[in-house]
Amino acid sequence: MGKLQNKVAIVTGSGAGIGKEIARKYAQEGAKVVIADFNEDALNATVTEFNKAGFEAFGVKVNVALEEDIQKMMANTVAHFGRIDILVNNAGVGDNMQAAANVEDEVWQRVMDINVSGVMRAIRQVLPIFIENGGGTIVNMASIAGLTGGRGGLAYTTAKHAVVGMTKNIASHYGSQNIRCNAIAPAHVETGFAAAMTNVDPFGMQQSVRGVQLMPKAGQVSDIANIALFLASEDSSLINGVALAADAGWSAY
Ligand SMILES: NC(=O)c1ccc[n+]([C@@H]2O[C@H](COP(=O)([O-])OP(=O)(O)OC[C@H]3O[C@@H](n4cnc5c(N)ncnc54)[C@H](O)[C@@H]3O)[C@@H](O)[C@H]2O)c1
Repeated sequence: MGKLQNKVAIVTGSGAGIGKEIARKYAQEGAKVVIADFNEDALNATVTEFNKAGFEAFGVKVNVALEEDIQKMMANTVAHFGRIDILVNNAGVGDNMQAAANVEDEVWQRVMDINVSGVMRAIRQVLPIFIENGGGTIVNMASIAGLTGGRGGLAYTTAKHAVVGMTKNIASHYGSQNIRCNAIAPAHVETGFAAAMTNVDPFGMQQSVRGVQLMPKAGQVSDIANIALFLASEDSSLINGVALAADAGWSAY
């Protein structure tokens, strides 16, 4: 019996990187997983790979920044699997390390739309479903940039602090209804995330990496998936409203 046996979990941004590994880990623990991503090729490849491995996986193409896509993600999940028990708000984008004086409106807006509004929209939609079910669990992907000040550009740092704030607010307001909401705050994890950033701001980058040599080690996607399993399972039943630093102690210094 897996730790998430027969639970239905939506993982956003699960066509690649950390989200894909979280979805795999959940499926290995018996969950039925919804692969929600705006990259259709990656999403289809992941669903095929998971189904071949014997997992129950279902794909929904979704841009988390769009309200209608979030509604579709919830409706299709309920239509396909009948319920939702776990929501992992993992989809997120970088800000090209733009320092405050160099912030471009377009980059700021994209980061806020995806990394902040996307999380709010999914939570807003899932809460009534959780309340009707008698409970549910939310795992938000923050960042060490959501707990510290100087390890990313302004938009990304602001957005991930907002994710940490949302996490505590949801836990505080809905905890009594058997709803848990926690966040993971990774430092560098080896995925395609950094490479996806183009036109990087040299000053923002220089400032953001000042302490990198003090980071004991980079994370692997499996490290984060293990934490996401803990936070989604009954093993963490007493934990609500925390943002766990997953940085090998880097930010403890
Ligand atoms: N990799 C790191 O070093 C690191 C560190 C701290 C936090 N994080 C956070 O972890 C999360 C996942 O990062 P990753 O490293 O796996 O990135 P990644 O770029 O490898 O994968 C992100 C996935 O999310 C999808 N996605 C992006 N925007 C989307 C949108 N609007 N709607 C739906 N899907 C979307 C992409 O298509 C991709 O499949 C992000 O929230 C990121 O901020 C990453």
